[in-house]
Amino acid sequence: MRRRTVTRCVCHKRKFTELKQLAYVQKLNSVEDMMALRLAGCGCGICRPYIAKMLRTGEVEFAPGDVDVEDR
Ligand code: FES
Repeated sequence: MRRRTVTRCVCHKRKFTELKQLAYVQKLNSVEDMMALRLAGCGCGICRPYIAKMLRTGEVEFAPGDVDVEDR
């Protein structure tokens, strides 16, 4: 069976790997920073806790639901 993972903001069609790079280059520290630049998170919002965790841990691939309370 294929393993499903969360690796992108579907609404903005951007992978977390790309968002991580953009965050580094543009010195973005929060999901709100990403949203202000309309890079990710402005659609359905389901990716927001994953992006928060990406910014906190550097991870770019998550099991569905694998977010911590502080990332919600
Ligand atoms: S998946 Fe990122 S806003 Fe919908």
